[in-house]
Amino acid sequence: MTAFRLDLTVLAESRSRAGASAAASRGPALLARAGEGDALRDEDLATLLLASDVDTGLLLDLASRRRGAGSRLETFSPLYLTNECDAECAMCGMRGINSKLVRETADDRIVAQQLGILHRRGLRGVALVTGEYHHGPRRDEMLARVGRAVVMATELGFEHVLINAGSLEPNEYQAILEKLPSGLDETTAPRLTMCTFQETYDFSVYRRFIGSTATNPRTDFVRRLENFDRAIDAGMHSVNPGVLLGLHRDTAFELLALLAHARHLVARGAQVYVSLPRLRKATGTAHHAGVSDDLLFRFAALVSFGMPEVRVVISTREPPLVQRRLLPVIGVLTPGSPGVAPYTEKGARFELEASQFEVLDKRPIEAVLADAIADGFTIAGYEPGTPA
Ligand code: SAH
Ligand code: TRP
Ligand code: SF4
Repeated sequence: MTAFRLDLTVLAESRSRAGASAAASRGPALLARAGEGDALRDEDLATLLLASDVDTGLLLDLASRRRGAGSRLETFSPLYLTNECDAECAMCGMRGINSKLVRETADDRIVAQQLGILHRRGLRGVALVTGEYHHGPRRDEMLARVGRAVVMATELGFEHVLINAGSLEPNEYQAILEKLPSGLDETTAPRLTMCTFQETYDFSVYRRFIGSTATNPRTDFVRRLENFDRAIDAGMHSVNPGVLLGLHRDTAFELLALLAHARHLVARGAQVYVSLPRLRKATGTAHHAGVSDDLLFRFAALVSFGMPEVRVVISTREPPLVQRRLLPVIGVLTPGSPGVAPYTEKGARFELEASQFEVLDKRPIEAVLADAIADGFTIAGYEPGTPA
C-alpha cells in the first residue's frame, strides 16, 4: 500500500460542509442517529465537534456507551533518555536554541537503573523519549542509545515499549529492530510502538511552530507524515500518531485529518494509538495556550466513538479531574515525568528548567493509577506489588 497522503481538497470540502451542518443545527439529529447505533462519517463527527447545541456530556456518554463494559485501560510511563535536541519547535522546552534549559543525557547505566525502578514500581510499558537530531554522528549515537534501551527493557520484562524519538529512516528502523532479542512478529514481547505526533496537519501552522530550516529533519512535514508507513514497512505493527491541541485553531480540520491518518494506518493492519496532548508551559517559550477542557472532552469522545478500534492516549499533562472525566472514553492513561531519568523508588523529579514542558499532575505514578482502579478500571501494563 502507498504511504499516507493528506487529500487537502477532500478535507477542505468536508470541513466546510461540517461547519455548515453545525451552523444549520444538524448536530442534535446526528447525535440521535449515533445513539441508535448508526455509524457516522468523519464529516458527521466534525459536525458534532462544532455543534454548539450538542452537549459535551452527551458526547462523552455516547462514546463511553460504545466502548461498553469491561472498562479496560492500559498504561505506560515515559522515560526521557536525554533533553538534548537539534530541532527548533517553538512550543517545546527541549528545542536546540533554548539556552534556558539545563541539558542532561542519561548514560546506559542510569537508563538501566531507571528501567529497573519503573519495573519494580509495577510498570510493564515504557516510552523511550529523545529529541530529533541532524544527520551525523550525534543522531547515530542517540538512536543507538534508544536501540540499547529497547533491548534493556525487553530483557527486564517490559511488555510494551514505545519509541518516541522523532521520525526514522528505513536503515534506522532496521538498526533498532534487528537488535530485538525476541524478533518482531505480532505475538512476541515486547510490543513495539512507533510514536510521532504530527502536532498539526496544517502545513502552514506546522511551519510556524516546527520551523522551515532545511537541515532540520523535524521540519519536513511529509517525512513526518510518512513515518508510520516506513515503520510498518520495516515490520512494526503498532503506531501512535497525535495532535498537539493548542497549535491550530481549526480543531475540526485536525479531527478530520487525524481520523484520515488513523484510518489509513488501520487499513494497513496496524494497531493505532492516538495521543491528544494539550499544549503546556515550557521554559523559554511564550506558546502555552492550549484548548479548553470542553474542547478536549469533545475531541477525545469523538475519536473514541468514531474509531472504537483506536486507543486514545491521555497523559498526566492533564489534572486529575480532567483525567477522571476522560477515563470512560480513552484506552491509555500515561503517568510520569518529562524530566531526564527522573524516577526514584517512590516518586520523580519534575524540574521545569530541565523538562520538555510542565506536567499538571505530579503525583506518583501509583497514586494516579490507583484513582483509575478505584473508579473501576482494570489496567494492563501495570502489576503493582509484584517483586522485580
Ligand atoms: N522529539 C520527539 C519526541 C517528543 S516528545 C518528537 O518530537 O517526536 C512528544 C510530544 O510532546 C511532542 O510530539 C509534542 O506533541 C509534545 N510537546 C512538545 N511541546 C509541548 C508542550 N509545550 N506542551 C505539551 N506537549 C508538548
Ligand atoms: N511526550 C510523550 C507523550 O506524550 C511522553 C509522555 C508520556 C509523557 N506520558 C507522559 C510526558 C506523562 C510527561 C508526562 O506520549
Ligand atoms: Fe525536539 Fe521533539 Fe521538542 Fe521538537 S518537539 S524541539 S523535535 S523534543
